[in-house]
Amino acid sequence: NWTMSAFLDQEITRIRTLVGDKGQVLGAVSGGVDSTVAAKLMKEAIGDRFWAVLVNNGVMRLNESEQVEKDLKEHLGIHLTVVDASKLFLSGLEGITDPEKKRKFIGGTFIDIFEQEAKKIEDAAAGSDLPGKIEFFLQGTLYPDVIESLSYKGPSATIKTHHNVGGLPERMSKGQGLKLIEPLRNLYKDEVRALGRELGIAEELVMRHPFPGPGIAVRILGEVTQERVNIARQADHIFISEIRKAGLYDKISQSYAAVDPSRAVGVMGDKRVYGYIIILRAVTTTDFMTAEAFEFPWAFLQKVMNRIVNEVDGVCRVTYDVTSKPPGTIELE
Ligand code: XMP
Repeated sequence: NWTMSAFLDQEITRIRTLVGDKGQVLGAVSGGVDSTVAAKLMKEAIGDRFWAVLVNNGVMRLNESEQVEKDLKEHLGIHLTVVDASKLFLSGLEGITDPEKKRKFIGGTFIDIFEQEAKKIEDAAAGSDLPGKIEFFLQGTLYPDVIESLSYKGPSATIKTHHNVGGLPERMSKGQGLKLIEPLRNLYKDEVRALGRELGIAEELVMRHPFPGPGIAVRILGEVTQERVNIARQADHIFISEIRKAGLYDKISQSYAAVDPSRAVGVMGDKRVYGYIIILRAVTTTDFMTAEAFEFPWAFLQKVMNRIVNEVDGVCRVTYDVTSKPPGTIELE
């Protein structure tokens, strides 16, 4: 008779046996459902012998790094270090327009920073009164990721390399000699959410829409600049807040506002102005391999459009992307 609470007990016992009384575990967190549930599970199993690291890559959503820090530390009591590398990422992104180059740069830089931080944490762990040393690396791999990496070698194999911050587990296991722990590898997403609830994680965190590792960098067509990041953030914040207010958040699988930096003409007063184009996207899907655009009430879209053009400087058009996947993808780049 399988229940989530029995699974949780069994998993905690398994982790304790694997890690032992003295072992320590390191893991990257993003604020997403999988890494949050995996981190809370480790916290329950081994307390502060689990060390979490959040890297702020400068392309997270509005106030997201601060919010995730608060949720993980205050709400979940997780032993967390936050590294603010936003300036380094944004200066490195200057001049890059190719989407795959953006992904590569962000993924590679993430690993470099994570490795530097891991060394600092190992020193801190060795100097702390916690027993043992860091031997393990936590990874929030889900069952569909396992299946896909075993069987599917199509185009999304490239996407998958970026998915779990591409190459990080390999580098941590080969480079740093850490053993991998993957407590979610037998679970589907809805089961991870149920496990999160069983662990007492707030509904708002458990139900969060997925967010890609390269963040809003793949939601700005072409070059990423601080100005465009600010605009994408503000527009996205308005869109998501209105979705929440309308009670639609849990009916949608993923949603965001993107920036098309081509300038479109508009009128403000009696002047012609040129501004960025905002592209809103919201989809429903069960497996993220196919998806449909969400059908908003017209009045809702008009309200979001009004707020964005009035509140976000430098924007004069708002569009809604109705493309299904295929042929569109969920992200714009
Ligand atoms: P697409 O755009 O391929 O996205 O329809 C399917 C799902 O994958 C996410 N995605 C990514 N996640 N790094 C990630 O961590 C990436 O480079 C990346 N590209 C797409 C996307 O957000 C959606 O959930």
